Amino acid sequence: MTDVAARATAGFRSAYGAEPAGRWAAPGRVNLIGEHTDYNDGFVLPFALPLRTVAAAAPQEGERWTVCSELSADPVSFDADDLATPGKVTGWAAYVAGVVWALRDAGHPVPGARIAIASDVPVGSGLSSSAAIEAAVLAALVDLGGPGLPEDRWPRLAQRAENVYVGAPTGIMDQSAAIRCREGHALFLDCRDESIEHIPFDLDAAGLAVLVVDSRAPHRHADGEYAARRKSCERAAALLGVPALRDVAVADLDGALGRLPDDEMRRRVRHVVTEDQRVLDTVALLRAGRVREIGPLLTASHVSMRDDFEITVPEIDLAVESALAAGALGARMTGGGFGGCVLALVEADHADKVATAVTAAYAERGFAAPGTVPVLPAPGATRLD
Ligand code: GLA
Repeated sequence: MTDVAARATAGFRSAYGAEPAGRWAAPGRVNLIGEHTDYNDGFVLPFALPLRTVAAAAPQEGERWTVCSELSADPVSFDADDLATPGKVTGWAAYVAGVVWALRDAGHPVPGARIAIASDVPVGSGLSSSAAIEAAVLAALVDLGGPGLPEDRWPRLAQRAENVYVGAPTGIMDQSAAIRCREGHALFLDCRDESIEHIPFDLDAAGLAVLVVDSRAPHRHADGEYAARRKSCERAAALLGVPALRDVAVADLDGALGRLPDDEMRRRVRHVVTEDQRVLDTVALLRAGRVREIGPLLTASHVSMRDDFEITVPEIDLAVESALAAGALGARMTGGGFGGCVLALVEADHADKVATAVTAAYAERGFAAPGTVPVLPAPGATRLD
């Protein structure tokens, strides 16, 4: 397939009969570890994928925005009045309108613009294709509007686009990854104060690879279940008298669990509290250059998501089990859950063997063939030209 940046330019030319003023790229992400911890003010460790979304853009007169993408032939157009009417812009274009809305709502001037979007980030695979759109469009609009909005403020704005304008109650991880990741590193993010540390994650040097397995499982009730998990965590924090579950230390976990009313809530809390600790332990190992040793933490994270947070599905569990049986050092579901992708840490020269074993296990169970691809940590949002 043609390079994604070239496709964005071609889309711009064919929709608007003109040349773009520039092109801005933002990646999809996988999360190495730290799932459903972001909206609990906790820790996450995502890295950016080499798969990117590109926005080709140019200013246009007035407060009007026009956007086209490979997802729909006809451009979608909206103005300042449309932005004030909830539900006026829908589908993929809502992520774009949400970014314009969030920037304006925060008092930042946004120039009218024409935008064409092309993407290599698969939609619906849990690799944050929506955050990649938000980040690429935000980068374009901030640049076209002139300097003045530091990059560390972008993730919250993109998150507001998604939470308030689109109406999905997600945390800050995906937008932070799409914007702030660095090549060759995982992004250690404290979701309470948004402080970051780029943690070297040099797979090549360690003779390792991360294999991403797209389960191709349809997302089942993902939105409602995500919102339910979030509510349960917030109720638990309120019952425990803490601002967020991040404030429950692992050492105090048993005492905290004893103060909660039902088993389901206890398991939700146990996942979040132990998952935060697994992120910290993973970061400590990576800082010490002990990459190979993070495997068991990844697998423990998966078990916790499967048994305590209950967000996995049979296709996902099978990918993890079959990867481990074929020699992966660790494997876990990545992302919000109920489908999406698994990542497996493997010896570089075993990547093919593990991919083949997972594919064979799927065939045996009668599941649709999974996608398998080795990935390396890529950069976050950038201006291309
Ligand atoms: C989705 C959300 C993120 C995060 C993950 C789970 O990707 O967008 O904010 O909550 O699920 O870790």
